[in-house]
Amino acid sequence: MSKKQVYAVFASVLLFLVSITGFAAGDANAGKDKSAACTSCHGVDGQGSEPNTKIAGMNVGKFKEAMQAYKTGARNNAMMQMFAKKLSDQDIEDLAAYYAAK
Ligand code: HEC
Repeated sequence: MSKKQVYAVFASVLLFLVSITGFAAGDANAGKDKSAACTSCHGVDGQGSEPNTKIAGMNVGKFKEAMQAYKTGARNNAMMQMFAKKLSDQDIEDLAAYYAAK
């Protein structure tokens, strides 16, 4: 094998590892499935209605920040804290990708 081929094999193995660990940026499709618990308050598309804020189109960074703040209790809202606590970091990534694309 030439050096180039060795690098190519190495790169594809790395890519494969990244794909099977599933630890990647948010997946909007997975987020759609996970959003079922959110629709009763925030609406089917996250459009919201008072007092449930609109979360559709929310910036990924702001979304994650808000969810982590509810999770840790830094941001105080009993409802959101309850829901955020059930979510893993990957769930939050996926939901962020989903709502940001709305
Ligand atoms: C029982 C109703 C309810 C459910 C269910 C619910 N939320 Fe909320 N959510 C709220 C309310 C009310 C607020 C505003 C709270 C506040 O002022 O901090 C809020 C705020 C938020 C915010 C912050 C918005 C901002 O502008 O900072 C995000 C993000 C969010 N919700 C995401 C979600 C996600 C994701 C789910 C599903 C896992 C969910 N919510 C489920 C009621 C709900």
